Amino acid sequence: MIVTIDGPAGSGKSTAARGLSKRLGFEFLDTGAMYRCVAWGVLQRNVDPADEQAVTDVSQQVKITFADDQVLLDGEDVSEAIRTPEVTEAASVVAQYPTVRQELVRLQQQAAAGVEIVSEGRDQGTVVFPDAFCKFFLIADPEERARRRHEELAAKGKQVTLDAILQQIYERDQRDEQRTVAPLKPADDAIEINTSRLAINEVIDQLEQLVRSRISSDSP
Ligand code: DC
Repeated sequence: MIVTIDGPAGSGKSTAARGLSKRLGFEFLDTGAMYRCVAWGVLQRNVDPADEQAVTDVSQQVKITFADDQVLLDGEDVSEAIRTPEVTEAASVVAQYPTVRQELVRLQQQAAAGVEIVSEGRDQGTVVFPDAFCKFFLIADPEERARRRHEELAAKGKQVTLDAILQQIYERDQRDEQRTVAPLKPADDAIEINTSRLAINEVIDQLEQLVRSRISSDSP
């Protein structure tokens, strides 16, 4: 059984998806981390993110694995390294390339084969798992998303202005929504939830309730 959670950065989908997977006892797939891994591999190798062929080669060379809450790239724990602003920027560039997406979509479908999983990203309900059991699309106002990101960075001791974050959010949304391959958009059959005024536990409660009620209405 596959549950997909898509939405823009800062919509709360990563935390919600992880929490939901724990509640349901399902596995969890963070597909954004996979694009970040490719970006990190690209930067590490001094490859130009604008060089589509070279980036594609990197996406085919790197071995991405997940162990508990860690993301491993060729066996090395890169969970923290892939969260820097530099990697965030490069990830959004490499995610535009069809050949990179093709490779990662293949790995995502492989990861979900025969298991119960909550998979989180931008295109999980539209492209990767069009037949998923339950699809969600989380949104939040850009100002609220910027506020959350600002708080997250401040907790790590990083000083960035709210305005700068808001600007990055607009730019990244635009790139994610306007790319020709697998743009960020809800699947026709996705349930949309606005998390702007909800605490994360309230979001997880709602998601869990919706999945469980669909499971009960599906069972004979
Ligand atoms: O969710 P995130 O911020 O970790 O994602 C990093 C980048 O990868 C972001 O620019 C969107 C892109 N991405 C994507 O294009 N498709 C996915 N399924 C997941 C992420």
